[in-house]
Amino acid sequence: MIGFIGAGSIGGAVITGMVKNGYDAKNIIVKGGHSNRTKLLCDQLGFQMVKKVKQLEETDVIFIAVGANALDSVLKELKEIAADKLIVAFTGGASITHLKQFLGDVKVAHAIPNTPVKVGAGFTGIAYSNNFTDEDKKKIESVLGYTGQVVEVPENQLGILGTVAGCSPAFLDLFIEALSDAGVKHGLNRKLAYDAAIGMAIGASKLAKQSEMNVSALKDEVTSPGGSTIRGVAALEEYGFRNAVIKAVDAAENK
Ligand SMILES: NC(=O)c1ccc[n+]([C@@H]2O[C@H](COP(=O)([O-])OP(=O)(O)OC[C@H]3O[C@@H](n4cnc5c(N)ncnc54)[C@H](OP(=O)(O)O)[C@@H]3O)[C@@H](O)[C@H]2O)c1
Repeated sequence: MIGFIGAGSIGGAVITGMVKNGYDAKNIIVKGGHSNRTKLLCDQLGFQMVKKVKQLEETDVIFIAVGANALDSVLKELKEIAADKLIVAFTGGASITHLKQFLGDVKVAHAIPNTPVKVGAGFTGIAYSNNFTDEDKKKIESVLGYTGQVVEVPENQLGILGTVAGCSPAFLDLFIEALSDAGVKHGLNRKLAYDAAIGMAIGASKLAKQSEMNVSALKDEVTSPGGSTIRGVAALEEYGFRNAVIKAVDAAENK
């Protein structure tokens, strides 16, 4: 049995991704907040809902998906039942040290999923406490695997990984919107412009993932001498595209 504390944007996205990709909702128990968000999701997906953290007693893995403001009070309640469980917090700032301060020497992990988990195409970075065994990690990775890729990293790289994989869906959305605006400017209707931009982003990402070549070689392949694509690439460089992306990550990292 898998437990969740909090089913807002990211908790809800992970649960949705799991269930839509074949994880049995009957094996998920969720303790939600005060609004009816969890109930609405429950009506769609059919997991069990409980009112108190201690009702998650029968689970062996618990994901904490509350915001930082609710974390410590949740951890205080969780301490009672945490001893034999694997605890994974998605909450920003839920360092392993912080989790252990409240829960004692139990098995804790800090993970940062991104929103594409909702459609099974997520990327989750995770850092484990030293007492996680390989078997424990396999268990977590098999559960989160329903939502996409799961990659273990040292805890000091989790923040930047979370920015590169977790903030960037919004950056890509902006790129898709801008590309679609350009299509409309040059005469495409809006729907077709969005379909083309989104279809391109999916296809180019798939190609980049599956190709033996790195992305700059893929770019070289489509830039014929004196052609339209290299003129577009040069314009992107002229207007600081690469630097804008690096600055966006800098800004996300430096609060
Ligand atoms: N959104 C992302 O892409 C993302 C990605 C990775 C990590 N994170 C981190 O995950 C955390 C949550 O983010 P979010 O965007 O999912 O926030 P959110 O949409 O506000 O969701 C938090 C949920 O926690 C619930 N909650 C609050 N107190 C609770 C309690 N005592 N027991 C059970 N549930 C409780 C809230 O319930 P109500 O609905 O009743 O208020 C809400 O649904 C943040 O620390 C964020 O940094 C977010």
